[in-house]
Amino acid sequence: MAETPPLQAIDIRAGYGHGDVLKGVDLRVGGGKITTIIGPNGCGKSTLLKVLSRLLRPTAGSVLLSGSPLEQLRTREIARSLAVLPQLPVAPDGMTVAELVRRGRQPHQPWYRQWSEQDERITADAMRDTQVAELADTAVDRLSGGQRQRAWIAMSLAQQTELLLLDEPTTHLDMAHAVDVLELVTTLRDVTGRTIVVVLHDLGLAARYSDDLVVMKAGSIVAQGPPAEVLSEELLLEVFGLRAHLFDDPFDGLPTVIPVRRTGIGGAAPAGDGRGPLDVRDRSATWS
Ligand SMILES: Nc1ncnc2c1ncn2[C@@H]1O[C@H](COP(=O)(O)OP(=O)(O)OP(=O)(O)O)[C@@H](O)[C@H]1O
Ligand SMILES: [Mg+2]
Repeated sequence: MAETPPLQAIDIRAGYGHGDVLKGVDLRVGGGKITTIIGPNGCGKSTLLKVLSRLLRPTAGSVLLSGSPLEQLRTREIARSLAVLPQLPVAPDGMTVAELVRRGRQPHQPWYRQWSEQDERITADAMRDTQVAELADTAVDRLSGGQRQRAWIAMSLAQQTELLLLDEPTTHLDMAHAVDVLELVTTLRDVTGRTIVVVLHDLGLAARYSDDLVVMKAGSIVAQGPPAEVLSEELLLEVFGLRAHLFDDPFDGLPTVIPVRRTGIGGAAPAGDGRGPLDVRDRSATWS
């Protein structure tokens, strides 16, 4: 019999009251792997993460956490196994970075136990690993977009869960910090065997840092597997409407996506894409 995966979605349908956004999604994640969900804006990636973490209840289907239906578990129980970083998290007014990161320890603190040295060490490590230690006493609402993002990642790390769901953790980050976050995620997988589900838009980073890709389109999963098997020029065109060349990187052999330019500057518009060249010097120009 197949081993029980830490997190399993079975035939999930979900939405926001005006029809289903997710149209029957099946997903199994676990085994200390990094699974990256990719897909165009609005296809349902965040909705899926919300359902997987019970922030949104599905209209049909079920989510199992280590074999138990999510709806039967207590919130604290879920939070001890699964940490989620939403796409647009909001911290209470004036809350400092250290206070936010300490919140990650809440699921592990029974009412009879005070803040411990272990809690202190774990929050300090989380802030160090995300490079926000020097911002510990700064209010979250005074941080830059990238600093804020790293403070929230620190909070998810402090939760020390087997499963980590990160919705666009590299948004707002400069490339060096984006790479830092994904290297950190890789270390968490390699050193502590954590299972990580991440939503990314950068296909190059997704190809580099994922064991598996899950490709979504219009509320369904259309492809799934290791990046080198899943990514193809046909898939990019079908799913994103993106004309791109796919190369094997000469350094590590991983797929690299180079978009085909449409402007006619330094490259001809591709034939038959339904979009003619755009004259960028003309501010009123539109696709012909
Ligand atoms: N709170 C909400 N209320 C109503 N509709 C919503 C809500 N959140 C998302 N939607 C709708 O559900 C659909 C899927 O949204 P979702 O946020 O899951 O997309 P996504 O794939 O994460 O997109 P993005 O890449 O832009 O983050 C969209 O059509 C969106 O308008
Ligand atoms: Mg989203």
